[in-house]
Amino acid sequence: MIRIVILTGAGLSAESGIRTFRYCHGLWEEHDVMEVCSVDGFAADREKVNAFYDERRHDLEEKDPNEAHRMLARVKQRYGGAIAMLTQNVDNLLEQAGCPDVIHLHGTLTDLRCERCDTVFPIGYRPQSGIACPSCGSARVRHNVVMFGEEAPAYRSMHDAFKTAEMFIAIGTSGRVVNIRWYAQWYDHTVLNNLDPDETLDPYFKTVIHAKASAAAARIEALIDTFLR
Ligand code: OAD
Ligand code: ZN
Repeated sequence: MIRIVILTGAGLSAESGIRTFRYCHGLWEEHDVMEVCSVDGFAADREKVNAFYDERRHDLEEKDPNEAHRMLARVKQRYGGAIAMLTQNVDNLLEQAGCPDVIHLHGTLTDLRCERCDTVFPIGYRPQSGIACPSCGSARVRHNVVMFGEEAPAYRSMHDAFKTAEMFIAIGTSGRVVNIRWYAQWYDHTVLNNLDPDETLDPYFKTVIHAKASAAAARIEALIDTFLR
């Protein structure tokens, strides 16, 4: 039974060199979000959107997990089903660190999805051009990242996880997409780790650690161990 929900965001991978969305010099400064990450933008210009994800997938190849990814992999290996490992990140750095059963709320960069039969299949770090669905052969395939304006099916797993949880840990997320304030209010054990003090967010959490995720990792691991042992 799930006892701890861990939810991570772009800040977890920031020290691995993957840019956050809203933080200073974030990805959105250089791109029009609605052009590259919305259903309407995709309908208007598939090539542009595909090129955006090709570039992010290519960038990912040379990135390595950091200490925070490794800590999360360790606790997930140690405690298995007692921890739900949810991430908003589309990179694969938790998996690269050895973390099993990561739930990607917003999809994955290293997979594609068939628009005809819905099969999700791995593409690695390659560009998607010329790749057809291995299941039905359709050439109508797309990136596997959730865009604004479409459902995020994995949110159902998140809701289920929160039902039995007793502890909630948020790492490296601004909480603007997944409403972490709303979840935090229900639990006695809550931990927030990000960089900046925020008087509208911090009071919802019992333990607030404003530090880089890698620096906070040992303390978060100890909190998890204490709670589950
Ligand atoms: P944001 O960019 O909104 O927030 C990043 C958070 O990470 C901020 O709170 C920073 O303080 C914190 N942060 C930055 N560097 C950090 C570090 N080294 N250690 C710890 N914390 C650090 O990113 P998300 O909350 O993940 O959706 O954004 C959520 C979603 O918005 C994304 O998944 C994306 C975007 O729309 C999709 O792509 C569908
Ligand atoms: Zn198919």
